[in-house]
Amino acid sequence: MAKNKIVVAYSGGLDTSVMVKWLKDNYDAEIITFTGNLGQTKELVGLEEKAKKSGASKSYVIDLTKEFLEEYAFPALRAGAMYEDAYPMACSLGRPLLAKTLVDIARMENANMVAHGCTGKGNDQVRFEVTVGALAPDIVNIAPLRTWEFKSREEEIDYAKAHNIPVTATKDNPYSIDENIWGTAIECGILEDPMAEPPADAFQHTVAPEDAPNESEVVTIEFEKGIPAAVNGAALDSVSLVKLLNEIGGRHGIGRIDMIENRLVGIKSREVYEAPAGMILHFAHKELERITLEKSVAHYKSLVVQEYANLIYNGLWFTPLRDALQAFIDKTQEKVTGLVKVRLYKGTTRIAGRTSPYSLYDPELATYTAADQFDHKASEGFIKIFGLPYKTICRVEQKAKDAEKHLV
Ligand code: ARG
Repeated sequence: MAKNKIVVAYSGGLDTSVMVKWLKDNYDAEIITFTGNLGQTKELVGLEEKAKKSGASKSYVIDLTKEFLEEYAFPALRAGAMYEDAYPMACSLGRPLLAKTLVDIARMENANMVAHGCTGKGNDQVRFEVTVGALAPDIVNIAPLRTWEFKSREEEIDYAKAHNIPVTATKDNPYSIDENIWGTAIECGILEDPMAEPPADAFQHTVAPEDAPNESEVVTIEFEKGIPAAVNGAALDSVSLVKLLNEIGGRHGIGRIDMIENRLVGIKSREVYEAPAGMILHFAHKELERITLEKSVAHYKSLVVQEYANLIYNGLWFTPLRDALQAFIDKTQEKVTGLVKVRLYKGTTRIAGRTSPYSLYDPELATYTAADQFDHKASEGFIKIFGLPYKTICRVEQKAKDAEKHLV
């Protein structure tokens, strides 16, 4: 019997295929693979068989798309969480769920180890290992890519051939792509040059804004307590709703992001993302908050959200602080119910209308017509008190200056 039992986070690509065999030999282990479906468009059929041919004894392929959206992406949407004000964190949000499922399977299978195929200089290794540690500190994390002997893709291919590991001869993709239903990250190749504009072939799900239709299109999105519930009048489940917005946004060139990002491991990296649905939903949700959130709640929330986004980016999903901030954020969403109209046009989103049963916009207070109910006279006293400290400062300074003059 094998000494160890390892559950491997398996994508079916070259690295993780080689990993199955390599772990089996180097750790005297029985290998079980786990592939999480987070709504990526990449075909997952045949993965079980492929894993077994690589040496796994058992293989799980689990559809986590709905859980991913409802328990990870939507909470971050309710928060309005964008890393460094730009990135809706599709990859960052997927990792804790994948790691949690890895642990669940390890428990079910009585495995003592888990392994992932992340490199030694990214954020994903941190997200995986911190999550596994937070949920199951007794389980050992293995990251073969940090330690194994292979120095190049070619060496891995040679190893695969020598051990009859099936590697699909895909045409060489110049990019490293990580995809799920909430967004796609595109890295490597020419994109490593921050001066190079991303070539057309880097994008998978959006047309270039300049090639988008000349006619704009309005989408209406309804939210219930900060959760998207309907598009264009049709109530939709989470997965269908996001798929639909990905498709509509993609054809209008919405949601392309090109940024220099500060990784947790201390380096700046150039990241290109596509997240049509995510960007439309963040935009619409924000507009609905503008009309439903009381001013101090809205302002305070924006302070909290930066910390919350950093936690997610840094792999700290399963932590007491993230939980506590989530409770605050969810509380703020009780009245974020209503409808937003968004106009899409060549890569841009514009607000075309918003309404809510909890709208704090009061036309009788806002209007400049005869219907006005605002007490203009009350402003006089308000301004007197509001500006009082500054009058005091000026008077004191004036007095001090005069006193100085008398001294000379
Ligand atoms: N920089 C992004 C993040 O940390 C994208 C990571 C992409 N992951 C990958 N394996 N290519 O969230």
